[in-house]
Order: sequence, then structure tokens, then C-alpha cells
Amino acid sequence: MAFESFREFVNQLDCAGELKRIAQPVATELEITEIADREMKSPGGNLRAVVPPPNLCSVAQLELVCCLCLFLFVGNVGSVAADATRERICINDNWRFIKGDPTNCAVSLLYDVREQKQVRRLAEAEADGNSFSNATPTSLDATNAPVSVIKQWILPTGNNFIKDAAKRFSRPEGNPGDGVAYVQPDFDNSAWQQINLPHDWAITGLFTHVGGGGMGRLPTAGIGWYRKKFTLPATDAGRKIFLDVDGAMSYATVWLNGHLVGGWPFGYASWRLDLTPFVKPSGENELVFRLDNPPNSSRWYPGAGIYRNVWLVKTSPVHVGQWGTQLTTPEVSSERATVNLKVTVNNDSKQSANVTVATEIYALDTNSKKSGAAVAKFAAVDLQIAPGENAAAEGNATVANPKLWGPPPTQKPNRYVAVTTISQDGKVVDNYETPFGVRTLKFDPNKGVFVNSERVELKGVCEHHDLGALGAAFNERAAQRQLEMLQEMGCNALRTSHNPPAPELLELADKMGFLVMDESFDVWVRQKTPLDFYLIFPDWHEQDLRAHLRRDRNHPSVILWSIGNEVGEQYTGASGAAVAKELCAIAHEEDPTRPTTTAMNWAQATNDLPATVDVIGLNYQGAGVRKAPGRYPEFHEKFPDKLIIGSETASALSTRGEYIFPVTTSNSAAVGPNSGQDQSKHQVSAYELYCAAFGSSPDRVFASQEKHPYVGGEFVWTGWDYLGEPTPFDSSRSSYSGIIDLAGFKKDRFYIYQAQWRPDFPMAHILPHWTWPERAGQVTPVHVFTSGDEAELFLNGKSLGRKKKGAYEYRLRWDDVVYQPGTLKVVAYKNGKVWATDEMKTAGAPAKLKLTPDRKEIHANAKDLSFVTVTVTDKDGLTVPRAGNRIHFEIEGPGEIVATDNGDPTSFESFQSHDRQAFNGLCLVIIRGKPGQSGKIELTANTDGLKVGTVLVKAIR
Ligand code: GAL
Repeated sequence: MAFESFREFVNQLDCAGELKRIAQPVATELEITEIADREMKSPGGNLRAVVPPPNLCSVAQLELVCCLCLFLFVGNVGSVAADATRERICINDNWRFIKGDPTNCAVSLLYDVREQKQVRRLAEAEADGNSFSNATPTSLDATNAPVSVIKQWILPTGNNFIKDAAKRFSRPEGNPGDGVAYVQPDFDNSAWQQINLPHDWAITGLFTHVGGGGMGRLPTAGIGWYRKKFTLPATDAGRKIFLDVDGAMSYATVWLNGHLVGGWPFGYASWRLDLTPFVKPSGENELVFRLDNPPNSSRWYPGAGIYRNVWLVKTSPVHVGQWGTQLTTPEVSSERATVNLKVTVNNDSKQSANVTVATEIYALDTNSKKSGAAVAKFAAVDLQIAPGENAAAEGNATVANPKLWGPPPTQKPNRYVAVTTISQDGKVVDNYETPFGVRTLKFDPNKGVFVNSERVELKGVCEHHDLGALGAAFNERAAQRQLEMLQEMGCNALRTSHNPPAPELLELADKMGFLVMDESFDVWVRQKTPLDFYLIFPDWHEQDLRAHLRRDRNHPSVILWSIGNEVGEQYTGASGAAVAKELCAIAHEEDPTRPTTTAMNWAQATNDLPATVDVIGLNYQGAGVRKAPGRYPEFHEKFPDKLIIGSETASALSTRGEYIFPVTTSNSAAVGPNSGQDQSKHQVSAYELYCAAFGSSPDRVFASQEKHPYVGGEFVWTGWDYLGEPTPFDSSRSSYSGIIDLAGFKKDRFYIYQAQWRPDFPMAHILPHWTWPERAGQVTPVHVFTSGDEAELFLNGKSLGRKKKGAYEYRLRWDDVVYQPGTLKVVAYKNGKVWATDEMKTAGAPAKLKLTPDRKEIHANAKDLSFVTVTVTDKDGLTVPRAGNRIHFEIEGPGEIVATDNGDPTSFESFQSHDRQAFNGLCLVIIRGKPGQSGKIELTANTDGLKVGTVLVKAIR
């Protein structure tokens, strides 16, 4: 069905009230009672006032560097200096939470109609054994008639992101939620669960065996309510008070003091509400969230709840708008960089405002702190802004001898920050910081991606947003750990599949030097699962896309906008391409500096979709889907002006530490009942030769990339295992796709990527393990991954031959080794010289538990984490590779166990359990400190008959 007609189709469903579009959103403001009084700096230069583009009220940049994160207690949000110009206060702590609507609630708070008929279809499909985990096009069926819906009150929240003023939404009369107990300010929520954000209500839930495994078998679906009280000081009267939500899953509706303020349906979006009209300065305020996760709404685990950070932002009525700076570096050389900055200033007061915009640039050190004196200044710009309007100042500054931002190991991710000061009538009313990097990007259709004139092959991975046992609840240390391990592997690029990431992920990518393909959507008009994003795409795609781009466009790490993944519009010719054109036009408007792409698994060089984007993203088609030949040459010929990338590759599948015999002689084989999988255990062989039916082993992908050097690189599916989509065993809880398992343990696959992606790093890795008492005398193939070019394998000191990698070969294999216990040793060579060695010894019986924390010191703030690996070893300290001991954990001192896991996709043990079965010798305990309590945390692990293991982790203030 074509986009336009589908929009009409959805509009017909607006049966509970009209969607009235008005020229401007309703502006509200309080009188200014106090404005900060500070000295104004007046740098010279060439900034100029610019007429704001019509209807674009705010511009993107995170405020992470300038954020003031206060950890607040209920009833105490207000300990703030009266003259502060801008504050950003983290309000994550002390919320109350409950699942489900109040009983006997007669009022419908449903956002919009949902298609019950399709839910039934899914159930039927599951009964037939079909899952919706793949992107095959589905039909759009008619729906049941709804009860009343509240989307008319929610849609105005997105008005700042709708370009055409005539298409903006007005808020209807009335206050949905009146009469609902949980919304009322005097409601007693003391019986609700006390929680801190970020919070994922589903991750603590029990796994279910009912239904398909696509969404991770955890209770994400349903309603969740959150409430939080706070007070503001009297000095906040006259200030703007905003609520910034980095992400809430999903269909959020927010009330303040009983008044519905607004909301945002897309669970991956970051959004702002203006609380000002409803706040009580010097009084008690209460925020209420209602979230509503539809069932069957995702192809992976979405998480549930307010799963990212939430902030109160306080500003003067005249202030830099939301994501209100846009910074580019149009000219860069080693002598100088031109920095272009556009600052959008909102005047939310009732008077016209005379404003001066001044900006200085400082270098940032590796801790994101300003270092030294300003390195450049923009000329001050005077603006006169009418009440309720906004205006933009734009100008250039020159940074001499700029330190460029670029990906390691050949470049460094140097950063700067632009510090903008807004003065009104000579008084400073706002300070705003925009971290950025100076770099050039080139997408050469024949040579690949160039960063600062150096060709950088994209050695990328796709990542979902969950953090394993921590669920979707964002934790910066957990994300950093993921990126650190990927960097150790040689990965230099990330694809945020298939949605906007947590803002902090991009901050980490900036600091660590990853290149990011920042993706907006998995679905446009054509659905993939019955209640997914297609329901809201017609009303929200513009707001979601513009908000995403404005939020992320100043990050140096972001190099490419992906407007969609394997969308159903691949199959719909011109009408599908029309949607892509609209999305690309939005992306180019919001950011003319970066190209667009869309990841296509069913692209034909002759169909309409590829032509609409700047970079051709091919999923799996580069290496060849199933028996089809690779299609890079065909696309390269058809689109000589467009760079091609492997936007998704491999989909290799494996379970850490599982080896299944016999081993295929092919270098890539689809997994199946007689091919690399254990039907009874629901595990996949870690020989790393097996893949999804449409996928390829790493070896086959490397060959396709190497044979086509004009391709910019690849994004492997996936870096880490993720919750949900457990192909090929739908009955499991988590994926088999990761190079690293869900607990963070490296699969053997890690080393084939390291060998290929870090050719200068001396390494060799043997697989499988060498503890096979039942295989004595049987052929047990041995494979070696090495960054060397040849290697010799020894079993108990006897050479099994020296082998050299041939053209397009990425592993060395000794497929006829007959097992005997002892020591396997490999000596790898590069250019004829010894390069690296590895050894694998037969282990004895389990005897001890070894505890290894990734960090021995953590901050006592309840956010910092230590990831403790628990290894079952024999008496000599060798890992017992198939040990499955059940281990019990205890913790003493100022710390607690947050979660445990073992990386087994078939494990249904709760992530909260303090008992965990080791899986192939390993399990994981995640611990954290207690706020403000320093001291020694002692973690103890014990299992029947083995020596107890302990470890100390220090919590420091
Ligand atoms: C791709 C898809 C991913 C994931 C993957 C599984 O086609 O884009 O989201 O489903 O297959 O192998």
C-alpha cells in the first residue's frame, strides 16, 4: 500500500476527536522574576544574525558536558543557586513504579487504535511454527474499532520537529487522566515499588516459554506507571522548567500535578516536555508517567520502562533551544580549521529580547574537561527576538593547528568544546556547551571512506541496545565495557541497529574514536510485526527523524545516517522509494554534511530504493545470500557515484564453548539439523563456520570484502549477543549471532576478527578446547586464527604440520587431528619469523573457582560496575571447558549483586538470581557499590565440593 494512501487510512481511524493542525504550537510562559547577573564576555569576530529557517525552532546538540547532575532525594530538587543560568539536573532517583492500570479504571488512556486482528494472526503464525523474526513483507489489515484515544494530546509534543507550520497539532480541550487514580496528586503511592532510573521492568521478570522467542521471552508487554515528587525553590519562579527524557519504552504519557503535559510514542526517541505552565515553584510537584508497551511490537527485546536518563532542565525564558547548536567544520587542514556554528535562541518571554550570542572554543582533554585557554572565538552577534519566537546566530571561527578527531589506531579522537554565552541587556542568561571534533569525511565510490584523508576501512559491528543481564536500562560503564572489548578486537565502527542509541553511547563513541552509522528506524509504513512502529510512522516519522538528527548531528563519531533497516518498502517500487526520498530530504535539511543510507537485504540494482540514498547499504548481498552470487559488482556498476558498504554482514551463529562434530569441510555453512547445531541442547557449534540461512561465516565475508576494495567496509551482525531473536532456536532467550556472548565472554569468533582487523597485533588462537575424554582416537579438527600468515601445530610436542594461508583464506585448519589428551601448541609466523603462540591443555576435574573482576576499584555511586568473571578451574588453574557447576554467590561490605549470567542462550534462570550454573566453565556476576559508602566489597562464590573463591573490589568515593 502506498504511503499516502496509508496515511489516509490511518487518518480515517482518528475516530475519537479531530486532529486539528494549527500554524504555531501554543506558547506558554511565566513572568521573569529573576535572571542571573553575570559578566558578559564580548569576543570579536564575524558572527552574524541569521533569519531562522521557517518553523525550525531548535537544533541538535547534547548537553552532556555542561550537565549538572545532582543526585536528588524525593522532595529536594531545589538546592540550586538563584542566579544559575542553566541547570541540568538528573532526576533518576527515588521513583515509584507499578505495573498495570488501576483496577476498575473506566477511562481509556490508549494512545491510538491497535490492530487486534493482527495480534490474532501472530498467534496463529506462532502456532504454525512461523516466527515474525524476519523482514518479509506483510499485509496491512483493517482493524477493530477503538475506544477513545489520547493521541491528540500527545502529538503537539512533536510540533517543533514538524517543518510545515500548517501541519502542526493543537491540543484539544480537556485533560485525559482526570478521574484516573494514579494521575491524581493526592494519590498514595507508598505501596508502589521504589526504584531508580534507568529502569527496565521486564529484565527482572521471569522468562516465559509461551509464544515466540523474538522479543526475548521477558514480560515487556503491558502498562507501567511511574511517579516522582520534587520541590522547586521559590527562585525558580519565572524560569523555564523542561523535562528531558532520553528514552522511555514506549507510548509515554506524562502528567505534572495532575495535568497532562504530553508524551512521545517511539520508545527509542529522546524528547522534551515544557513543564513550565504546570510547575509550582516553591511547592511540591509530582510527575507521573504512563507507558504502554504493545505485545508483538518488535523483532528483538525492546526493554520496558523509563530505561534511559531523565533530566530537569532549568533555563531563563531567553535560552538556547533544545539541541540548539549546529556545528560543522567546513574547511580543515593541518594549519587551520574553519568552525561554523549556528546557535538558535528561543525567547519564551512576553517581551521582545535583545540578545548577544558569544562563543569561545576550548580543547577538551581525555576526561572531557576544558584544557587551557580558549583556542578560538566567534564574533559576538546581536539578535532581537520577538516574544514567543526564536532566532539564530551563525558565524565562523578559525582554530589554528587543529588537533583532528579520528579513529585509532592510526588517529586520535581529539575533541573541542564550543562554549556559548547568551546575554540579554548585558546580563548573562544562558551558557551552553557543544562538544565537537574537527575532521573531514569523504565517501569515495571507488576507494571507500576517508577520515582526514586517510582511508579507513569500516571494521564495524551492529549492536542492539540491550546490555545483557542489565536489560535495556542504560548503564554507561556496561556500554563502555562493550566498546572496550570491541576495540580490543580491532572494531572501529558501530551501527546502532536499528534505532537511535542512548545519548551517552555516542559520547563514548566520540571519546573512543568509533565511527558510527546512526540508524533511525527498522520499519516505515510496512509492518514487520503486528504492532510495531508502522502504527505511528505516518504521524511521527518527521518528528522522530528530525529529533534524532538534531540530537546527534554534532557528534564527530557519527559519519552516516541510516534512515532504515530492511524496510518493507524494498518491495514496493516507486511508492517505497517515495518514502525514502522524503526521509533523505529531511536528513539533508537537518544535516547537509553527512550522507544517508538504508540497509537493504533485498535490493535490486534496478529497483527504486537504492537510487534514493547517498550510500548503498547492502545487507548480506555483498557476500551473496544463500547460493546467490555476491552483488557488489552489480551495484558498483549501476551506481558508479555511490559508495557501497556491507551495512550488515555474516549473521554467523555460535554458542561459546560448544563444538559439534563432524565439522563441515566448507568455509561457510548454513546451520541446520545436520549442520553445526545440537538439536537436543539447542546450541550451535563454535567452529565459527556456521551461519543463518541467508548469512555467511566471517571467512566468506572477509573474502567478499577483500575482492571488492571499493566497498567501504562491513558491519557484522552482531558484536555482542542480544536478548531476543534466538535464531535458529526460537525456544531460547537470546541470540547466537554475537562475536561476544551475552555475558561478555569472547567466543572463538572474536579471534578471527582480531586476526583480520588487527594485522599488526601478534596473536594466535587455537580452537576447540582440548578436554575430550570421550573422543580419544577420534578425529577432532583443530583450527587456528592468527594475524600471522602461517603456523605450525604440535600435539604433545609432535608436529602436525606447518600451514600457510592461501588467497582469501582466514583460518588455518588441521581437520584430521586425532584426539589424544595433552597439549596442543601453535607457533604462528609472519614473513617467516615467529609471530605468536598459543597453547591449549587438557584440563582435569573441577577443583576451584577463580574470580576475576574487570575492575578492582569502582566508584561508590550505585552506577559504576565491576564485572566479575567466575571460572571453574582444575587443581592447576586450567579452565574446565565444559564445567557446569551450580555456583552460589554472596556479597559483603558496601556493595550488591546487580545481576548474574553465564552467556547460555538457553538459560532461563533469572538474571537476579544469586545462584547460577556455570556455562562451559564460566559465569558472570555484576556488582556495584552503595551510594556514598566506601570500603571493601567481598564477593564469595561456592559450589559443592570445590574450593570457595573470593575477590575484593574496593568502592571509593
Ligand atoms: C537481518 C536483520 C537484523 C536481524 C538479522 C538476524 O536481516 O536486519 O535485524 O534480524 O537479520 O540474522
